[in-house]
Amino acid sequence: MAAENRRITLNNGVQMPILGFGVFQVPDEQTEQVVTDALAAGYRAIDTAASYGNEEAVGRAIAASGIPRRDLFVTTKMWIQHTGEDTARREFDKSLKKLGLDYVDLYLIHQPLGDYYSSWHAMQKLYGEGLATAIGVSNFHPDRLVDLITHNDIVPAVNQIETHPFFQRHADQRVMGEHGVQIESWGPFAEGKNDLFTNPVLTGIGEKYGKSVAQVVLRWLTQRDVVVIPKSVRPDRMAQNLDIFDFELSDDDMARIAGLDTGQTVFFDHRDPEMVTWLGGRRVD
Ligand SMILES: NC(=O)c1ccc[n+]([C@@H]2O[C@H](COP(=O)([O-])OP(=O)(O)OC[C@H]3O[C@@H](n4cnc5c(N)ncnc54)[C@H](OP(=O)(O)O)[C@@H]3O)[C@@H](O)[C@H]2O)c1
Repeated sequence: MAAENRRITLNNGVQMPILGFGVFQVPDEQTEQVVTDALAAGYRAIDTAASYGNEEAVGRAIAASGIPRRDLFVTTKMWIQHTGEDTARREFDKSLKKLGLDYVDLYLIHQPLGDYYSSWHAMQKLYGEGLATAIGVSNFHPDRLVDLITHNDIVPAVNQIETHPFFQRHADQRVMGEHGVQIESWGPFAEGKNDLFTNPVLTGIGEKYGKSVAQVVLRWLTQRDVVVIPKSVRPDRMAQNLDIFDFELSDDDMARIAGLDTGQTVFFDHRDPEMVTWLGGRRVD
Protein backbone atom coordinates (compact mmCIF):
# COMPACT_ATOMS: atom_id res chain seq x y z
CA MET A 1 0.00 0.00 0.00
CA ALA A 2 1.33 3.47 -0.80
CA ALA A 3 2.45 5.31 2.30
CA GLU A 4 0.17 8.25 1.63
CA ASN A 5 -2.82 5.88 1.76
CA ARG A 6 -2.10 4.64 5.26
CA ARG A 7 -4.45 6.57 7.48
CA ILE A 8 -5.65 6.39 11.05
CA THR A 9 -9.11 7.48 12.14
CA LEU A 10 -9.33 10.34 14.63
CA ASN A 11 -11.98 10.55 17.37
CA ASN A 12 -14.31 12.55 15.10
CA GLY A 13 -14.04 10.10 12.20
CA VAL A 14 -11.55 12.20 10.22
CA GLN A 15 -8.85 10.17 8.50
CA MET A 16 -5.26 11.33 9.02
CA PRO A 17 -2.15 9.98 7.25
CA ILE A 18 -0.01 8.10 9.75
CA LEU A 19 3.13 9.35 7.97
CA GLY A 20 3.49 13.01 7.06
CA PHE A 21 6.15 15.66 6.64
CA GLY A 22 7.29 18.38 9.09
CA VAL A 23 8.79 21.75 8.18
CA PHE A 24 10.15 23.02 11.51
CA GLN A 25 13.52 24.74 11.01
CA VAL A 26 13.21 24.67 7.23
CA PRO A 27 14.24 28.22 6.33
CA ASP A 28 11.42 30.25 4.80
CA GLU A 29 13.32 30.76 1.53
CA GLN A 30 13.86 27.00 1.17
CA THR A 31 10.41 25.84 2.25
CA GLU A 32 8.55 26.16 -1.06
CA GLN A 33 11.07 23.90 -2.82
CA VAL A 34 11.28 21.48 0.10
CA VAL A 35 7.49 21.07 0.30
CA THR A 36 7.31 20.76 -3.50
CA ASP A 37 9.87 17.93 -3.28
CA ALA A 38 8.01 16.30 -0.38
CA LEU A 39 4.71 16.33 -2.26
CA ALA A 40 6.45 14.93 -5.35
CA ALA A 41 7.94 12.17 -3.19
CA GLY A 42 4.42 11.20 -2.12
CA TYR A 43 3.78 12.96 1.20
CA ARG A 44 0.21 14.19 1.56
CA ALA A 45 0.31 15.48 5.15
CA ILE A 46 2.28 18.64 5.93
CA ASP A 47 2.90 19.91 9.47
CA THR A 48 3.68 23.59 9.94
CA ALA A 49 2.99 26.27 12.57
CA ALA A 50 2.60 30.02 12.84
CA SER A 51 5.86 30.06 14.80
CA TYR A 52 7.82 28.34 12.01
CA GLY A 53 7.45 31.46 9.83
CA ASN A 54 6.95 29.42 6.66
CA GLU A 55 3.17 29.03 6.25
CA GLU A 56 3.12 31.20 3.11
CA ALA A 57 5.82 29.11 1.46
CA VAL A 58 3.95 25.92 2.38
CA GLY A 59 0.83 27.42 0.82
CA ARG A 60 2.64 28.33 -2.40
CA ALA A 61 3.98 24.79 -2.78
CA ILE A 62 0.52 23.31 -2.17
CA ALA A 63 -1.09 25.65 -4.69
CA ALA A 64 1.55 24.90 -7.34
CA SER A 65 1.34 21.13 -6.81
CA GLY A 66 -2.10 20.77 -8.38
CA ILE A 67 -2.89 18.03 -5.86
CA PRO A 68 -6.63 18.05 -5.04
CA ARG A 69 -7.25 19.69 -1.68
CA ARG A 70 -9.19 16.68 -0.40
CA ASP A 71 -6.08 14.51 -0.84
CA LEU A 72 -3.99 16.73 1.43
CA PHE A 73 -3.88 16.94 5.21
CA VAL A 74 -2.53 20.27 6.44
CA THR A 75 -1.76 20.98 10.08
CA THR A 76 -0.83 24.32 11.59
CA LYS A 77 -0.52 25.57 15.16
CA MET A 78 -1.34 28.59 17.25
CA TRP A 79 1.47 30.26 19.21
CA ILE A 80 1.43 31.25 22.88
CA GLN A 81 0.88 35.00 22.54
CA HIS A 82 -1.99 34.22 20.20
CA THR A 83 -4.03 32.54 22.89
CA GLY A 84 -7.32 34.06 24.07
CA GLU A 85 -10.66 33.74 22.31
CA ASP A 86 -10.55 36.80 20.01
CA THR A 87 -6.82 36.62 19.36
CA ALA A 88 -6.94 32.93 18.54
CA ARG A 89 -9.66 33.53 15.97
CA ARG A 90 -7.73 36.40 14.39
CA GLU A 91 -4.50 34.42 14.28
CA PHE A 92 -6.27 31.42 12.78
CA ASP A 93 -7.57 33.66 9.98
CA LYS A 94 -4.00 34.90 9.41
CA SER A 95 -2.65 31.36 9.18
CA LEU A 96 -5.40 30.31 6.81
CA LYS A 97 -4.69 33.31 4.57
CA LYS A 98 -0.95 32.66 4.58
CA LEU A 99 -1.56 29.02 3.65
CA GLY A 100 -3.98 30.12 0.93
CA LEU A 101 -6.55 27.59 2.12
CA ASP A 102 -10.28 27.60 2.92
CA TYR A 103 -9.81 25.26 5.88
CA VAL A 104 -7.08 23.36 7.69
CA ASP A 105 -7.30 19.68 8.44
CA LEU A 106 -5.86 20.00 11.92
CA TYR A 107 -5.38 23.08 14.09
CA LEU A 108 -3.30 22.66 17.25
CA ILE A 109 -2.61 24.68 20.38
CA HIS A 110 1.19 24.69 20.11
CA GLN A 111 2.03 24.86 23.81
CA PRO A 112 0.09 24.34 27.08
CA LEU A 113 0.93 27.93 28.03
CA GLY A 114 -0.92 31.24 28.12
CA ASP A 115 -4.69 31.57 28.04
CA TYR A 116 -5.22 28.38 26.09
CA TYR A 117 -8.60 27.55 27.61
CA SER A 118 -10.05 30.62 25.87
CA SER A 119 -8.27 29.56 22.70
CA TRP A 120 -9.87 26.16 22.93
CA HIS A 121 -13.29 27.86 23.03
CA ALA A 122 -12.37 29.68 19.80
CA MET A 123 -11.10 26.45 18.28
CA GLN A 124 -14.29 24.61 19.15
CA LYS A 125 -16.14 27.32 17.19
CA LEU A 126 -13.74 27.04 14.24
CA TYR A 127 -14.36 23.33 14.25
CA GLY A 128 -18.12 23.90 14.36
CA GLU A 129 -17.85 26.19 11.34
CA GLY A 130 -15.87 23.59 9.39
CA LEU A 131 -12.77 25.79 9.20
CA ALA A 132 -10.73 23.08 10.92
CA THR A 133 -11.78 19.51 10.28
CA ALA A 134 -10.08 18.48 13.52
CA ILE A 135 -8.64 20.37 16.50
CA GLY A 136 -6.03 19.31 18.98
CA VAL A 137 -3.09 20.21 21.15
CA SER A 138 0.66 19.84 21.32
CA ASN A 139 3.15 19.38 24.14
CA PHE A 140 0.44 18.59 26.68
CA HIS A 141 1.46 16.30 29.54
CA PRO A 142 -1.34 13.91 30.59
CA ASP A 143 -2.50 16.05 33.53
CA ARG A 144 -2.96 19.17 31.35
CA LEU A 145 -4.64 17.10 28.63
CA VAL A 146 -7.13 15.48 31.00
CA ASP A 147 -7.91 18.84 32.62
CA LEU A 148 -8.68 20.40 29.22
CA ILE A 149 -10.88 17.43 28.35
CA THR A 150 -12.70 17.58 31.69
CA HIS A 151 -13.67 21.25 31.34
CA ASN A 152 -14.62 21.43 27.66
CA ASP A 153 -17.06 19.99 25.15
CA ILE A 154 -14.71 18.71 22.47
CA VAL A 155 -11.97 16.18 23.19
CA PRO A 156 -8.76 17.08 21.30
CA ALA A 157 -8.33 14.77 18.30
CA VAL A 158 -4.53 14.78 18.56
CA ASN A 159 -1.74 15.55 21.02
CA GLN A 160 1.56 16.14 19.21
CA ILE A 161 4.43 15.47 21.62
CA GLU A 162 8.15 14.72 21.57
CA THR A 163 8.30 10.96 20.95
CA HIS A 164 11.36 8.97 19.81
CA PRO A 165 13.47 6.00 20.94
CA PHE A 166 15.01 7.92 23.86
CA PHE A 167 11.67 9.36 25.09
CA GLN A 168 9.00 6.86 24.15
CA ARG A 169 5.89 8.17 25.99
CA HIS A 170 4.20 4.79 26.54
CA ALA A 171 2.34 6.00 29.66
CA ASP A 172 1.24 9.21 27.89
CA GLN A 173 0.01 7.17 24.94
CA ARG A 174 -2.02 4.98 27.30
CA VAL A 175 -3.75 8.00 28.88
CA MET A 176 -4.41 9.50 25.46
CA GLY A 177 -5.85 6.19 24.29
CA GLU A 178 -8.21 6.08 27.26
CA HIS A 179 -9.58 9.48 26.20
CA GLY A 180 -9.59 8.89 22.44
CA VAL A 181 -6.73 11.30 21.73
CA GLN A 182 -4.33 10.28 18.94
CA ILE A 183 -0.63 10.52 19.78
CA GLU A 184 1.53 12.23 17.14
CA SER A 185 5.31 12.24 17.42
CA TRP A 186 7.41 15.32 16.92
CA GLY A 187 11.15 14.86 16.61
CA PRO A 188 10.92 11.16 15.65
CA PHE A 189 14.71 11.12 15.17
CA ALA A 190 15.32 13.29 18.24
CA GLU A 191 16.79 15.59 15.55
CA GLY A 192 19.78 13.21 15.58
CA LYS A 193 20.62 13.90 19.23
CA ASN A 194 22.27 11.19 21.39
CA ASP A 195 23.86 9.89 18.14
CA LEU A 196 20.52 8.34 17.17
CA PHE A 197 21.55 7.64 13.58
CA THR A 198 24.56 5.55 14.71
CA ASN A 199 22.93 3.92 17.73
CA PRO A 200 24.20 0.29 17.78
CA VAL A 201 20.80 -1.26 18.65
CA LEU A 202 18.99 0.62 15.87
CA THR A 203 21.82 0.04 13.38
CA GLY A 204 21.84 -3.69 14.16
CA ILE A 205 18.10 -3.98 13.69
CA GLY A 206 18.31 -2.00 10.44
CA GLU A 207 20.96 -4.38 9.05
CA LYS A 208 18.67 -7.32 9.72
CA TYR A 209 15.87 -5.86 7.57
CA GLY A 210 18.05 -4.02 5.04
CA LYS A 211 16.71 -0.69 6.34
CA SER A 212 18.28 2.52 7.65
CA VAL A 213 18.06 3.66 11.26
CA ALA A 214 15.58 6.35 10.18
CA GLN A 215 13.34 3.70 8.60
CA VAL A 216 13.55 1.46 11.67
CA VAL A 217 12.54 4.36 13.92
CA LEU A 218 9.59 5.39 11.73
CA ARG A 219 8.48 1.78 11.40
CA TRP A 220 8.72 1.29 15.18
CA LEU A 221 6.60 4.40 15.81
CA THR A 222 3.94 3.60 13.23
CA GLN A 223 3.80 -0.01 14.47
CA ARG A 224 2.88 1.56 17.83
CA ASP A 225 0.11 3.52 16.01
CA VAL A 226 1.98 6.78 16.55
CA VAL A 227 1.56 9.37 13.78
CA VAL A 228 4.95 10.58 12.48
CA ILE A 229 6.01 13.75 10.64
CA PRO A 230 9.77 13.45 9.96
CA LYS A 231 11.56 16.46 8.49
CA SER A 232 14.25 16.42 5.81
CA VAL A 233 15.37 18.96 3.26
CA ARG A 234 16.91 16.18 1.12
CA PRO A 235 14.77 14.40 -1.52
CA ASP A 236 16.69 11.11 -1.08
CA ARG A 237 15.87 11.10 2.64
CA MET A 238 12.27 12.16 2.00
CA ALA A 239 11.84 9.07 -0.19
CA GLN A 240 13.69 6.85 2.30
CA ASN A 241 11.50 8.03 5.18
CA LEU A 242 8.37 7.12 3.22
CA ASP A 243 9.59 3.63 2.42
CA ILE A 244 8.71 1.90 5.69
CA PHE A 245 5.67 -0.22 4.92
CA ASP A 246 7.36 -3.20 3.26
CA PHE A 247 8.74 -4.71 6.47
CA GLU A 248 7.54 -5.40 9.99
CA LEU A 249 9.61 -5.32 13.16
CA SER A 250 9.39 -8.49 15.23
CA ASP A 251 8.13 -8.39 18.82
CA ASP A 252 11.70 -9.03 19.89
CA ASP A 253 13.01 -6.03 17.96
CA MET A 254 10.16 -3.84 19.28
CA ALA A 255 11.23 -4.90 22.80
CA ARG A 256 14.89 -4.10 22.10
CA ILE A 257 13.93 -0.60 20.97
CA ALA A 258 11.73 -0.24 24.06
CA GLY A 259 14.93 -0.78 26.05
CA LEU A 260 16.37 2.50 24.70
CA ASP A 261 13.80 4.61 26.57
CA THR A 262 15.30 7.02 29.10
CA GLY A 263 11.92 8.49 30.03
CA GLN A 264 13.50 11.94 29.64
CA THR A 265 13.26 14.68 27.05
CA VAL A 266 16.39 15.30 24.95
CA PHE A 267 15.23 18.87 24.25
CA PHE A 268 13.61 20.72 27.14
CA ASP A 269 10.96 20.23 29.75
CA HIS A 270 7.73 22.12 29.25
CA ARG A 271 7.34 22.17 33.02
CA ASP A 272 10.70 23.88 33.64
CA PRO A 273 9.93 27.41 34.94
CA GLU A 274 12.88 28.91 33.02
CA MET A 275 11.63 27.34 29.80
CA VAL A 276 8.06 28.48 30.46
CA THR A 277 9.37 32.04 30.86
CA TRP A 278 11.51 31.78 27.72
CA LEU A 279 8.73 30.34 25.58
CA GLY A 280 6.24 32.89 26.92
CA GLY A 281 8.52 35.72 25.79
CA ARG A 282 9.09 34.35 22.29
CA ARG A 283 7.09 36.61 20.01
CA VAL A 284 5.73 35.42 16.67
CA ASP A 285 4.24 37.90 14.20
N1 LIG B 1 4.82 20.68 18.29
C1 LIG B 1 6.07 20.97 18.55
O1 LIG B 1 6.40 21.64 19.55
C2 LIG B 1 7.14 20.50 17.60
C3 LIG B 1 8.49 20.59 17.97
C4 LIG B 1 9.44 20.12 17.06
C5 LIG B 1 9.05 19.58 15.84
N2 LIG B 1 7.73 19.53 15.51
C6 LIG B 1 7.27 18.95 14.21
O2 LIG B 1 7.85 17.65 14.05
C7 LIG B 1 8.59 17.62 12.82
C8 LIG B 1 9.75 16.65 12.92
O3 LIG B 1 10.62 16.97 13.99
P1 LIG B 1 12.00 17.72 13.82
O4 LIG B 1 12.05 18.40 12.51
O5 LIG B 1 12.23 18.56 15.02
O6 LIG B 1 13.11 16.59 13.89
P2 LIG B 1 13.33 15.12 13.28
O7 LIG B 1 12.35 14.83 12.20
O8 LIG B 1 13.45 14.20 14.45
O9 LIG B 1 14.78 15.21 12.68
C9 LIG B 1 15.12 15.99 11.58
C10 LIG B 1 16.63 15.81 11.37
O10 LIG B 1 16.91 14.49 10.91
C11 LIG B 1 17.60 14.55 9.66
N3 LIG B 1 17.10 13.43 8.84
C12 LIG B 1 15.85 13.30 8.32
N4 LIG B 1 15.73 12.12 7.66
C13 LIG B 1 16.93 11.49 7.78
C14 LIG B 1 17.42 10.25 7.32
N5 LIG B 1 16.66 9.40 6.64
N6 LIG B 1 18.72 9.92 7.60
C15 LIG B 1 19.49 10.77 8.30
N7 LIG B 1 19.09 11.97 8.78
C16 LIG B 1 17.80 12.32 8.52
C17 LIG B 1 17.28 15.90 9.09
O11 LIG B 1 18.35 16.37 8.29
P3 LIG B 1 18.12 16.91 6.77
O12 LIG B 1 16.95 17.87 6.80
O13 LIG B 1 19.42 17.58 6.46
O14 LIG B 1 17.87 15.69 5.95
C18 LIG B 1 17.17 16.76 10.35
O15 LIG B 1 18.46 17.15 10.79
C19 LIG B 1 9.00 19.09 12.64
O16 LIG B 1 9.47 19.37 11.35
C20 LIG B 1 7.72 19.79 13.02
O17 LIG B 1 6.79 19.75 11.96
C21 LIG B 1 6.77 19.97 16.37
